[in-house]
Amino acid sequence: VEPLKVALLGCGVVGTEVARLLTSQAEELTARVGAPLELTGIAVRRLGRDRGDLGVDPALLTTDADALVARADVVVEVIGGIEPARALILRAMEHGAGVVTANKALLAEDGPTLFEAAAKHGVDLYYEASVAGAIPLLRPLRESMAGDRVTRVLGIVNGTTNYVLDKMDSTGAGFAEAVEQAQALGYAEADPTADVEGFDAAAKAAILASLAFHTRVSAADVHREGITEVSAADVRAAQQQGCVVKLLAICERVTGADGGDAVSVRVHPAMLPLTHPLAGVREAYNAVYVEAEAAGQLMFYGPGAGGRPTASAVLGDVVAVARHRVTGGRGPGESAYADLPLLPMRDV
Ligand code: HSE
Repeated sequence: VEPLKVALLGCGVVGTEVARLLTSQAEELTARVGAPLELTGIAVRRLGRDRGDLGVDPALLTTDADALVARADVVVEVIGGIEPARALILRAMEHGAGVVTANKALLAEDGPTLFEAAAKHGVDLYYEASVAGAIPLLRPLRESMAGDRVTRVLGIVNGTTNYVLDKMDSTGAGFAEAVEQAQALGYAEADPTADVEGFDAAAKAAILASLAFHTRVSAADVHREGITEVSAADVRAAQQQGCVVKLLAICERVTGADGGDAVSVRVHPAMLPLTHPLAGVREAYNAVYVEAEAAGQLMFYGPGAGGRPTASAVLGDVVAVARHRVTGGRGPGESAYADLPLLPMRDV
């Protein structure tokens, strides 16, 4: 059997782990896919950095992402951000490659362009790792629950802010002190804005709402409030009422002004009663609670970030796309969607 050519775009925390797992699990992956997966190259911005100690073969590194993409069967994009990720993904699809991406920012800003290109070229687009790291969540929403009617998705989808709020809750620390602890442990970045202001969670909420309700929601549609204003006193007051403060992504099917279906998508700190399944989610873990008409209540829980957990989700997508290359099939693609009206926050 001809090997399938896998091109990796990006060699950061996630890319490094993807490369490592592709090599260390080559035999098992071959058996699962039905053909060997050949990592043909890893596109990086600069060649200078020595990644040998990370277990990545330096001979695989290239700055010519275009050439790599042009001869790949499966392209894995873990660069993040809008460009050049979008242009490279679109070029990969034009060349007939299936695409796996972890890029929540791009999907939440311009998902429809990617979905339309995938449909046009008849290729796969998988993005399980874009929300909640290792937790299988998007495929359950996109496939397993496609026969049901989801009414609500409540998620703790940002590990950094959950860690900060959990520290404030368990130690009585203030916001700034808890952020410093999170930074010291490598959870929060030096510039924690995207996490603490809720931008990261808003992108993930847009992706979740789009899949849950078969509609199109972009990050700009999401009402967003971060955790920077949450004080030690707020956390204490919540405790006195038997509650815990969590940053939630809330996606709900609601009744619109015309009496028809509408959606409300928002990210903000919320007081959760300690009896709620999401209240016990500690440290940097993620969890997503889903309600559907027939299924009832479901809970997805696990590590939402980090190189290895995120690489696990990426590799699962690589296997799915590669299997389709072998069998000639294609994944589910985007559901036929209805543009449900978005309800402004004040109407909820
Ligand atoms: N900064 C994100 C988090 C990483 O803290 O959850 C995963 O998307």
